[in-house]
Amino acid sequence: MGHWIKACSLNQVGKNEMYAFDFEEKRLMITNLNGTIYATDRICTHAEADLSTGFLSDEGVRCPLHLSVFNLENGKPQNPPAEEPLKIYNVKIDQGEIYVEV
Ligand code: FES
Repeated sequence: MGHWIKACSLNQVGKNEMYAFDFEEKRLMITNLNGTIYATDRICTHAEADLSTGFLSDEGVRCPLHLSVFNLENGKPQNPPAEEPLKIYNVKIDQGEIYVEV
């Protein structure tokens, strides 16, 4: 069990936007995909690309470098070259603030 940290306010992550933030050594992002909030690592598991500068679609987030798409619910890459899943985190929303279990 981890502990919950505050990531940002809900209104900082508009629909189909990403919000990048760091906690200790972790590089994380919050994604609002069609109104659902997800928390994941933001560095691609293939190389050092920052997924928060990538592209969102219904399938997830597409890496800007070699274009693997990661599902935001389970972290799984949907296409090569990435093979390792992206780490995902539990999220909760309380009084308009987004919390992540790290
Ligand atoms: S760095 Fe993301 S797919 Fe290669």
